[in-house]
Order: sequence, then C-alpha cells, then structure tokens
Amino acid sequence: MLHNNPNAISARQENGSAQSPIRVNAHNEWDPLEEVVVGIIDNARFPRKDHVLKTDIALETNQSIHDDIEIPDIPDFVIEETREDLDIFAGEMEKMGITVHRPGVIDTQRKVASPFWETEQFYNYCPRDVLMTVGDMIIESANIFPSRYFEAYAYRDLLLRCLEGGSRWIAAPRPRLRAIDCNTDARVKAILNTADPAFDAANVIKAGKDLFYLISSSGNEAGLKWLRNTLRGEYRVHACPGLYTGMHIDTTITLLRPGLVLVNPERVNEDNLPEPLKKWDVIYAPEMEEYAYSDLPPLCSAWLGLNLFMINPNLAVVDAHQKALIKLLEKHKIDVLPLKLRHGSPLGGGFHCVTLDIRRRGGKEDYFS
Ligand code: ARG
Repeated sequence: MLHNNPNAISARQENGSAQSPIRVNAHNEWDPLEEVVVGIIDNARFPRKDHVLKTDIALETNQSIHDDIEIPDIPDFVIEETREDLDIFAGEMEKMGITVHRPGVIDTQRKVASPFWETEQFYNYCPRDVLMTVGDMIIESANIFPSRYFEAYAYRDLLLRCLEGGSRWIAAPRPRLRAIDCNTDARVKAILNTADPAFDAANVIKAGKDLFYLISSSGNEAGLKWLRNTLRGEYRVHACPGLYTGMHIDTTITLLRPGLVLVNPERVNEDNLPEPLKKWDVIYAPEMEEYAYSDLPPLCSAWLGLNLFMINPNLAVVDAHQKALIKLLEKHKIDVLPLKLRHGSPLGGGFHCVTLDIRRRGGKEDYFS
C-alpha cells in the first residue's frame, strides 16, 4: 500500500496509469461513494510545541496555559492497532469497488515555522480536518493548530491529480496564530480570539446547495465570511452558532440522507437546530457506549459515535460498540457495517474524520426548497 513505502509514490508516478486525473464530485454526505481518502497513523505524535494545542488542552482541563501541560507520547501498540483498524476500513471499501487513497507519510518531528511560531507537526489521521470537497472543488482549510499548517502537503500528489482532472483547487488564507491570538480566559469558550479567518474543514458538512458551518473554537465568524464570499452565488452557507463550542461539527449534526438528520441530544434542540433542517425528520441519538483501549486521555467526547460515515443513503459505517445507535439506524432502514477504530477518541477522530469523500455519484441538488 502507498503509505508503507515512501518510495511508492514516485514509483507510481512513473507508471502513468496509477496517476490518472481525478474530477472531484462531492455534493453531500450520502450519495453513493466512488472515491475516498482514508487517513494514516504513520509517524503520528502529539506536537509538544504547538501553543494553540496547549491552549486547547488547558481550557479543556481547566489548567492555566502557564502550567506545565503534559502532552503524552502515543504508545506503539496504539499506532499498530490503529493502522490495523484503518486498513480494515479501507479494505472494506475497496471490496465494495470504491477507490481508496491514502496520504503520503510526513516527518512529523521536523520543525515547521511561520513568522509567528515554530512547532513539530501532528499526523495525517484526519483528512476531513484539513481538506474540504464541495462539488468539483477541493479547499485547503485555514486550520487553527500551527502543527497542522502544512498538513495538506501530505495530499499534494492527490491534489495535483485533481487539478489535472479539471477540479477547482483553492486554499483559504492562513491565520497568523500568534500567541496573542490565543484566548486565555477559560470562561470564553473559544481557543482563538483572532480577526483572521480560521476554520478546520471538519466544521462544515454539506447537503447539495446548502452547507452548514459550525461556529465554534475551530471555526470563527471570519472563516464563515471567507467561505460565504468565496462560494457566493453557488452555495448557501448557513452559520450554526450556539450548538457546540468545541472542535468540529461531525459529532453534533450527522446528515444521513435527504430528509433525515441525526443529532446530538446534548447539544441540539428544536430551537437551535439550523433553520433549513427544521424541514427534515430529526433523530436524536441514544446514549453512547463509552470505552477505552489505552490510558491516553480522550481528545473527544463520548459522542464520537455520531461520527459515522455514509457509503450510500442506505449504508453507514458505524462504531461497532454503539449498539443502540445501530439499532436506531436500522429502524430507519439504514444498513450498518459495524467496524472499530479502537483509539479514535484519544486520537481525535471517528469514521467521518478519517475520511474525505472525493467522488460520490450524483449532482448538486436543492434539498430544502
Ligand atoms: N470534538 C468532537 C467531540 O468531542 C470530536 C470531533 C472530531 N471530528 C473530527 N473531524 N476530527 O465531540
């Protein structure tokens, strides 16, 4: 597989056929999947020098950013078991005839810097966080962690193929992420306090002409403005404020198929549900099964079970531990492929986070008129 051998990429390049052009086509979260990226865990480590990540951990754990915040090592068995889980997931999709891409391996220990900071890098486990596909477009997001500033380079070969295939490829302006852009007041539930657009790609989900953008720690108002201005005339970008202050939308609202949405009962109610979704049937998620396969502290809430991945409108990949959720989905005529990402919580992502849909069959529709 590509990611195990760093030379594999150039070997493939020489053999032209494997590098064929790709036309991005991803309009929603559920159309039949044809081509996807699955993250890797090679060289993953928590970046100790990333001051924004430190601020995040301090706020989450009620510590001061001046404290000696402990950032753990990732044990080898966690890496090994995650590699296994990701490969099983990728293999299952390949068996269904879906083309699976993996990111290139990066040297996460190599220091990266901007005029404002220096840090090590993080990982390529969650393509969902750094790249967004919208129709025939692929967008590099304005990520909030310095350690993820250059992460999209791990996908450069793929992006070049998308360009070759006629896809539009753009990158959001990068936030400065200076020390003074970090919020230090634990009462303010946001990691950053900056005028620069800042958003992780995973703050957005899509339903044809309508996109939903979570306003939270990982997506500010300026980021929303940038996305709205950039997509003006083509998409309606709905702000989703007051739902969840943490990272990413994909444990809060999960679009299952046209007219059906799964929501987090702790975060979403009839009042704060984004206006267009009020026309859809809403399922409130049942309580989640909690589990841990290591001593690493969780990076996610128990609601990571909502981070499921639709293969098509009738088939979802769901965390096998979440029996009640699986039952509920089946009741709504959605088949489930139960799989495991044993260390998803400490690593910060479930099945939706570790994927990026490159092509789904189907076009741009209006699901709310
Ligand atoms: N912060 C979310 C929660 O704890 C997890 C989001 C993970 N999403 C992602 N795309 N990495 O509920």
